[in-house]
Amino acid sequence: MIITIDGPVATGKSTVAKRLAESLGYIYFDTGAMYRAVAYQVLKEGVNTDDPAAVEAFLSHLDLDIKIKRGGKSYFVNGADVTEEIRGAAVTGAVSRVAAVPAIRERLVAIQRALAVGVNAVFEGRDMGTIVFPDADLKIFLEGRLEVRAQRRLDELKRIRPNEAENLTLEQCMKEIEERDNFDSHRSVSPLVKANDAFSVDTSDHTVDEVVFQIFECKDQVKSKHRAPPATS
Ligand code: DC
Repeated sequence: MIITIDGPVATGKSTVAKRLAESLGYIYFDTGAMYRAVAYQVLKEGVNTDDPAAVEAFLSHLDLDIKIKRGGKSYFVNGADVTEEIRGAAVTGAVSRVAAVPAIRERLVAIQRALAVGVNAVFEGRDMGTIVFPDADLKIFLEGRLEVRAQRRLDELKRIRPNEAENLTLEQCMKEIEERDNFDSHRSVSPLVKANDAFSVDTSDHTVDEVVFQIFECKDQVKSKHRAPPATS
């Protein structure tokens, strides 16, 4: 079974997807981290993403690997562990632009589909329910009020990158989130959009457990819709 969770920045996708996967015994994939890993390498190599030939040359030697390490996931690009670096401000500032490059998306979509073969998994991102897994068994679209999302992002940054968060205000966070969502929603390839058959869940005023509970209810609805009618004699 494949469950997709899409939605804008800081709606709780990763936390919810992780908790949901744990409670179902599924594996979980954070596809934003994959785009971040590629963006990290684009910055490192100074690739001009407006030049299709440069992107092609870059992709021809790109090796992306995900390893389970100490219970968490580690992301490797061309053999180097970039798990920490992909959460930094430089990558966050560049990732939307990198994720809008069609050839880069093509490569990552192929990797994501290959990861889904023969497994039960929760995939979290922006285009999981629309483009990558249009036939997913259950599709969720998380939403949330901008201010709540910005506060979450700020709290998270304070925890994982205190130096970067030191002088960051809630207003700056709101601006950054709005800009990224706007860019991700208006790009020409695979924009962030709710799939027609996705369930919307607003996470603003709910705990992670409450959101996961709501997703279980959505899962039951899908199951009963697909249940075969009783045999008639
Ligand atoms: O979920 P995140 O904030 O870590 O994602 C980083 C960026 O990657 C986000 O701004 C949009 C892009 N992304 C995407 O285009 N498609 C996905 N499936 C996941 C993320």
